[in-house]
Amino acid sequence: MVRLKRKYTSLLKWMCYALYLSLAFYVLQILHRDNLLGEEQKNYFPPNRTFRNIPQKVEFTFVTHRNEVTAVTQRNTVLIQKEKNSLKDGFIKTGTKATHYRQYPLNVDLKDIVRRIMMKEPVTVNVINPHPFHYTLNPKKTCLISETYLLILVKSAANHTKNREAIRKTWGRISDPGTKLVFLVGFSTINSAIVAENADHNDIVQENFLDVYWNNTYKTIMGFNWATTFCPKAHHLLFVDDDYFVNLQNLLYFVRHLNHNMPLLTGTLLPVSIPYRDKSSKWYVSLKDYPFRKYPPYLAGGAIIVSMDVARKMAAAFPYVKYLVIDDAYLGIVAYKLGIGVTRNAKISDQNCQDWSLRTKIACHGFSNVTNLLETYKRLNKPKTKPVSVKTQINPRT
Ligand SMILES: *[C@@H]1O[C@H](CO)[C@@H](O)[C@H](O)[C@H]1NC(C)=O
Ligand SMILES: *[C@@H]1O[C@H](CO)[C@@H](O)[C@H](O)[C@H]1NC(C)=O
Ligand SMILES: *[C@@H]1O[C@H](CO)[C@@H](O)[C@H](O)[C@H]1NC(C)=O
Ligand SMILES: *[C@@H]1O[C@H](CO)[C@@H](O)[C@H](O)[C@H]1NC(C)=O
Repeated sequence: MVRLKRKYTSLLKWMCYALYLSLAFYVLQILHRDNLLGEEQKNYFPPNRTFRNIPQKVEFTFVTHRNEVTAVTQRNTVLIQKEKNSLKDGFIKTGTKATHYRQYPLNVDLKDIVRRIMMKEPVTVNVINPHPFHYTLNPKKTCLISETYLLILVKSAANHTKNREAIRKTWGRISDPGTKLVFLVGFSTINSAIVAENADHNDIVQENFLDVYWNNTYKTIMGFNWATTFCPKAHHLLFVDDDYFVNLQNLLYFVRHLNHNMPLLTGTLLPVSIPYRDKSSKWYVSLKDYPFRKYPPYLAGGAIIVSMDVARKMAAAFPYVKYLVIDDAYLGIVAYKLGIGVTRNAKISDQNCQDWSLRTKIACHGFSNVTNLLETYKRLNKPKTKPVSVKTQINPRT
């Protein structure tokens, strides 16, 4: 009896240690991430740093993650003149401030608007994010060929013909009749090639907006609209970039074991991200476009699994939420306003993965190199001649 009790006490002790450790790790991770982002932004314009050959007496403003700063150039130096705290706090939950994100235009009860749309009741507010495009390529019958429960939508740059070709030959060659795959592209100068490509494969969804980075969110919205209109019976959608590797087996296992009635929006969770305020950044977002210090928690856009009920609500909501060029942050904002939770899925990685890790994941980033994709696929699908020991799996070099 005593021995048994001692055993439990020590087990309990170890469980406590494990709990402490994982808690500490989690907190550290968040702090680290926050700091990294903060430092990155501060370093764009370290105060009073000397630059070579900069024009004299040019006044300019820039935004750090905390303040709006006015500076002037003088004798090859940037002098900070004024720092103004003009950013709104949307994330830190002090008092009522946590509601700020919901005020992102339109400042309305978005849930109620979506409810009205679903009930076919009139909506009295004006659309502020119109989507005035039409399909130029539309493989309408994709989901009618056989009953579909999973739809994969690959966001692809128009000129990434080779990536699409490689995906069709590798993980995108799907034998499961309940799973379908389409590519989402915009309009571009190489459009005759895309029309020909679609004639061969009939798997490209395209609208007539220009295929440029700034229009990325239009592409994502197009995907939601298309899926909810032309594939409404699918239970789940996977949005994935054309530089990801998808482990289809693991994806199918995951969605088959989901409760179909559970709302789901899952992927790589970014719990605290801040907008890039440096004008030279690809991801620059002005204060006017987004007045908050942080984004609500959102999922990295590379690979996201969405249940159809959530997709329908999001698609209904987009016209009433101001356009933001960062498409994954935009989805996060819409979800936040709708009260839809985003969850972390450890099997979806926005990082590169080794083969051994890829075997356990649903999706991994880092396959813009087509050769890498083809070779990785070949390696992972090599028929096993004899059981592979755990050791050789973990260390791919041995
Ligand atoms: C930058 O220069 C200004 C004016 O010379 C000075 O007041 C300020 O303290 C300096 N800031 C830093 C961080 O060195
Ligand atoms: C695709 O277009 C982008 C931007 O126009 C360009 O930077 C990139 O090099 C192009 N890629 C290919 C494979 O042509
Ligand atoms: C986005 O697409 C629209 C429609 O084709 C186009 O008018 C607009 O110029 C595009 N945006 C950019 C930044 O090119
Ligand atoms: C792609 O990867 C292969 C093999 O790792 C490498 O030899 C090749 O140079 C890479 N191609 C590009 C364009 O980076």
